Amino acid sequence: MIEKSKTKKIDWENLEFSYIKTDYRFISRYRNGQWDEGQLTTDNQLHISEGSTALHYGQQCFEGMKAYRTADGSINLFRPYENAKRMQKSCERLLMPAFPEEAFVEAVKKVVRANEEWVPPYGTGASLYIRPYMIGVGDNIGVKAADEYIFSVFVMPVGSYFKGGLKPSNFIVSDYDRAAPKGTGAAKVGGNYAASLLPGKDAKTRSFSDAVYLDPATHTKIEEVGAANFFGITHDNEFVTPVSPSILPSITKYSLLWLAENHLNLKASEGDIKIDELDRFKEAGACGTAAVIVPIGGLQVGEDFHVFYSETEVGPVTQRLYNELVGIQFGDIEGPDGWIEKV
Ligand code: PLP
Ligand code: COI
Repeated sequence: MIEKSKTKKIDWENLEFSYIKTDYRFISRYRNGQWDEGQLTTDNQLHISEGSTALHYGQQCFEGMKAYRTADGSINLFRPYENAKRMQKSCERLLMPAFPEEAFVEAVKKVVRANEEWVPPYGTGASLYIRPYMIGVGDNIGVKAADEYIFSVFVMPVGSYFKGGLKPSNFIVSDYDRAAPKGTGAAKVGGNYAASLLPGKDAKTRSFSDAVYLDPATHTKIEEVGAANFFGITHDNEFVTPVSPSILPSITKYSLLWLAENHLNLKASEGDIKIDELDRFKEAGACGTAAVIVPIGGLQVGEDFHVFYSETEVGPVTQRLYNELVGIQFGDIEGPDGWIEKV
């Protein structure tokens, strides 16, 4: 059990999802075809060449994961090897050198341990957000992959990503695309997020929580909900989530697919979510590491506003999925083998 004096004095219950400078980050450099051992540092500033490919051509990628304080004071990571693997896929797509899986998880553990006082106490609902990233650096100017890279991991305590936590939020379907059909939508690369800034701002200006993106080829199927995946619960109790090469393969989404089938005894599948067939669903939600699960109250589609379960109440299936997922993450419920990695 962590001693009270070893946790920072922070208003944990009212944390937002915003940057806080914590004590240590891990940094490793790739030069001459290999990664160095890396080290922890207190310096949160990078000094990089003006020719860094990450600055001009978006040669970079990142991950998002969390550390959770459990009731016995220990710290859980949720499926960290999945993040390590996904980062390797992002690297492959952008011609960056893979960071080895074991070294990735070890680096994450090192940073969490070094910042243990920043891990929110059990029962506050807050967690420690972990941001691994990789950038192409060095002296470059032509459009080609860099020879040098930086891999780093930093952390900060966070509360809910969408205001209100497990409260329904309203979203709006955007006219913009976040990624092309054979582009980089399935990779966690900054370019996809740059493309989402304007639609996200437009949505917020109109008092929606974020933009929902349709499939870029036909604009007839739901793909993503801002920086989260979509799921719906049909009237005959099937958990359905979109399948597409241009959405991010969400670790939360695959975990919910498994939990829906194995803990909630629902049918669960990936399939098309046609924008003109929203009546199939009695409940809908957004899911992701930062978002956790956010019930979608209403969805603005052109001139129409479609309400799923309710704009104010959480649907019962969404609530059960949330309880299972969060219960496993915080160590209250036993998850499948390999889902929890102790720090
Ligand atoms: N989709 C997008 C565009 C995201 O940024 C995220 C966040 O990581 C997700 C989905 C959810 O993925 P995960 O559950 O792995 O966090
Ligand atoms: C995450 O859920 O980890 C994300 O990456 C969302 C984020 C871009 C804030």
